[in-house]
Amino acid sequence: MSAFEAAGFHAAAMDELVEELNPGRVRAIQRENEDLGRELLRCYEQLSLVFEITEHIANLQDPDAIRDVLLRRYAGMLTAAEVFVCAGDGCNSIEMPAAAAASRRALSAEAVRECLRDEVEAVRSTRRVRVPPVEKTRSILGERPVLLAALRQADAETSVVIALREPGQPPFDSSDMLAAESVLGYGGYILTNILMVRSLQQTAIETVRALVNTIDAKDNYTSGHSQRVGWLARMTGEALGLPRGQLQMLEWAGLLHDVGKIGVPEHILNKPGRLTPEEFEEMKKHPRLGYDVLKPVSRFEPVLGAVLYHHENQDGSGYPEGLRGDQIPLPARIIHVVDIFDALTSTRSYRPSFGVQKAFDILREGRGTVTEPTVTDAFLAWFDAYRREQAEDFALRFAHCVDGAPAAGAPAAEGAA
Ligand SMILES: [Fe+2]
Ligand SMILES: [Fe+2]
Repeated sequence: MSAFEAAGFHAAAMDELVEELNPGRVRAIQRENEDLGRELLRCYEQLSLVFEITEHIANLQDPDAIRDVLLRRYAGMLTAAEVFVCAGDGCNSIEMPAAAAASRRALSAEAVRECLRDEVEAVRSTRRVRVPPVEKTRSILGERPVLLAALRQADAETSVVIALREPGQPPFDSSDMLAAESVLGYGGYILTNILMVRSLQQTAIETVRALVNTIDAKDNYTSGHSQRVGWLARMTGEALGLPRGQLQMLEWAGLLHDVGKIGVPEHILNKPGRLTPEEFEEMKKHPRLGYDVLKPVSRFEPVLGAVLYHHENQDGSGYPEGLRGDQIPLPARIIHVVDIFDALTSTRSYRPSFGVQKAFDILREGRGTVTEPTVTDAFLAWFDAYRREQAEDFALRFAHCVDGAPAAGAPAAEGAA
């Protein structure tokens, strides 16, 4: 036994140690470490970009804008010169920023689609990223590195996104594939969810519109009283400089303001002549009825005040509570003005429209006693400019209230709409 063995060292272990201390081997390990470091840095950079992209698109609401941002940033992340999106049988080129476009050779979307037909189908069915070998694509795409990845669409169809680098650029590697899968996977998920929420909101709006149309029909208004009040309230809110969130709420409030009429007997709603005091008491119940109908639905909470108080007058002579001035919530004051205007300009079965000019006169007459002065002025100024500057739109929306001879015996109190 040698002295080394006696000290616990074995010959084989010694050989390994010498081998590892070999200068060539040490340099190789150093190179390996440097490569790993670069790879790690690249992965980190791509991960930060993935995070940045997904953060950015999560803050956008418009699905088309999200898709646009997603694909452009995706191209940037992969240093791709061109990006094509294949959906169904079609294939479209995505417009790239000027710098990339300048160096682009003309490649038609059809040629790309044709060249990669099998690859596209494989990605569509497996939803896995693919990097086809250059030998398979050289004849049409030249030396361009190619990467294909799946993008799930809202209709559950899968699009295939093709990224092409400039000829001679490094081929796409495993970290590119990982980043591509992450970005398009998460982006597709956001797109799908936003479109689903949109579709649910659309269904809810259509359901409410169908309901209010039924009520308008019951009240023998020209169709669309509630929709017009919603739109006019929104526009008046805009004229008053209210924030965007409140404008949406005003439109909903206008759409729903008369929902309580569902509980008022039709013979009262449609009585051609003046209501008896008892009938008027029945009619006056509709704001409270509307409030009670909507209250259980938490989503309608912001419109409850407007529904309950849209017949309150500035001087306290309105109903249901006889509130006055600032006691009346602003949305209710806005609905009150535009509701009166639409009631006066609507054609009823027993009388024609009063026309815009006469309705303006009546509103001015009640300014400060029936309606709030600031809101009344804002509405009158905006509507006057609207009908002059957007004559075509006005003619479409308000075809029923072309100015003519005012109806005889127009009662100012007919604003009880
Ligand atoms: Fe009403
Ligand atoms: Fe109304």
